[in-house]
Amino acid sequence: MTELSMRKATKAAFHEMEPQVVSPDGKAKTWITRGGNFAICYTEVEPGAVLERTNNPEEYMVILPPDGTAATIEAGGESVEAGEDSLTIVPPGPSRITAKVKGTIACIYSKASSDIMALASNAASYADGAPELAPPDLWPAPHDGFKLRHYPLAQYADPNGERIQPRVFRSTNMLVNIFAHYRTRRDTTALSPHWHDDFEQASLTLNGTWIHHLRYNWGADLANWWPDDHGEMSTPSVIIIPARAVHTSRDLGEDGPESSLYDIFCPPRLDFASKKGFVINENEYPLPEGATDREVKTGGTLLNWQKPG
Ligand SMILES: [Fe+2]
Repeated sequence: MTELSMRKATKAAFHEMEPQVVSPDGKAKTWITRGGNFAICYTEVEPGAVLERTNNPEEYMVILPPDGTAATIEAGGESVEAGEDSLTIVPPGPSRITAKVKGTIACIYSKASSDIMALASNAASYADGAPELAPPDLWPAPHDGFKLRHYPLAQYADPNGERIQPRVFRSTNMLVNIFAHYRTRRDTTALSPHWHDDFEQASLTLNGTWIHHLRYNWGADLANWWPDDHGEMSTPSVIIIPARAVHTSRDLGEDGPESSLYDIFCPPRLDFASKKGFVINENEYPLPEGATDREVKTGGTLLNWQKPG
């Protein structure tokens, strides 16, 4: 990849900025950060807080981290009692999340939720419409129709397993990788600097201290060169990594305290989705037509789990 990134990364450390939305009852404070095709909404809730969508156009994802958060999630005439450390895919249409305890909730919406996209703290960064990105491609509807899909996540993590344990889920409009939380810090001799040609990556970090190393390509004009970024980020925070920028992330500090990182891609990543057995809920959603003759859109130094199947 030799083309230039068309924007710098957005780095949003939530406790260093005001929330974009505070509910009228003050029970929900939400920080909204967008990419070209998605918005990450991080909400701190008090018991009884309600997050409601009157008619969301597409599916969205709800992550309850393993911090004790619990919520009732209602949509499509159904309801789930979502506990901490869970993912729920919410169908299009009206839906409601009611927090049962104090905690945090991350909701990921696609570009189709234009009201949310407009509220993002970094909306100005995308005023050009992000022409470098592949268009947000809606994948085929689930085999058994749209409905609430709920996944408790602890069963997909082995406390004695590998340090890096990807846990990947997809819907019609996005793919999330909710890595099992880390109790040891990343080996600095085994990093994975890589780039994505025509899609962005959000990395949401709720625990620990992180560096998202970033390098932007050079062009002919020295005045437009951007320096490498090795800045530390506190948590909770999110970074939106632009297409074409080389990136790799590592957590800092002593082994022991927990760190966490969740990656979000919108539309779903075909290289991950077409890797048999890699996406945990792959049997629920058909792949798009032509999924086998895919072009590789990611390059650089990759770990085995990141490589196409
Ligand atoms: Fe990446």
